[in-house]
Amino acid sequence: MRVLHVSDVHVDVPFADMPVTGWASPKRLLGGANLALRRKRRFRDAVEKLRLLGDLCDEQRVDLVICTGDYTALGTEPELRAARAAIEPLTRCRFGLVTVPGNHDVYVPDAVGRFERIFGDLLEPGPWPKVRIVDDSVAVVAVDSTRPNPQPWRSSGRIPDAQLEALPSVLASLGDRFVFVITHYAPRLASGRPDRFTHGLVNADHLLAACAGLRGAILHGHVHRTYRVRVEGVMPELFCAGSTTEKGREGLWLFEVDGEGLRATQGSFEGGRYRLRSGS
Ligand SMILES: [Fe+2]
Repeated sequence: MRVLHVSDVHVDVPFADMPVTGWASPKRLLGGANLALRRKRRFRDAVEKLRLLGDLCDEQRVDLVICTGDYTALGTEPELRAARAAIEPLTRCRFGLVTVPGNHDVYVPDAVGRFERIFGDLLEPGPWPKVRIVDDSVAVVAVDSTRPNPQPWRSSGRIPDAQLEALPSVLASLGDRFVFVITHYAPRLASGRPDRFTHGLVNADHLLAACAGLRGAILHGHVHRTYRVRVEGVMPELFCAGSTTEKGREGLWLFEVDGEGLRATQGSFEGGRYRLRSGS
């Protein structure tokens, strides 16, 4: 089984296409200014890069794509619709695409529920955590750690208690499959330390405790750096895809899962195409 992990693709649309009513939120106003001044340049080629990722899927015979959220910049309806269209090339591999929202997709309260509506055809029915049993050897458990953050200075996440309480029985039900637990927020930074309180996953330790004995891997995004890190006492390794489309920082992981376990290869973007690094 070959699994491609991408994240934080941040597709945007022209400001003229965004609804005027959405600008009532100070957080979105500031986010809009940041988008105009900095982000638009960095993510200018996001849609084209998603098309190239479709080519990578074909070249590498990818069976399943996992995206750990942040499809948009400001969580507006036109952005989510543009992103859903742009990721179409990633939904065509054998087992399709499994995903979670990112904090930018539920940016402020008016965006709540929008991701589930527009990406609904890619989501398993029922509440989070959503389970995709891929085959007899692999499963994905998608945990939603996002919440709107109306305060401009805060972009932290928290997994609702009900999801954490459900996790032990969900994981136990998957038998001896290799399990990818996926969420947007980073339980740990590359240094092994938790992210800061205003940017990180506030109940990261609860997630790590629930996954401590798991045969699998924890995949996330949010931090725009590609890294892998182990946490003492936690069996599954953590993998951050970083941002797969941010100019100069593009990252991804390609996983091969077999009876032996997991082999991970980091990918980057060079010379106008995505490439896998040698060594893993
Ligand atoms: Fe992001």
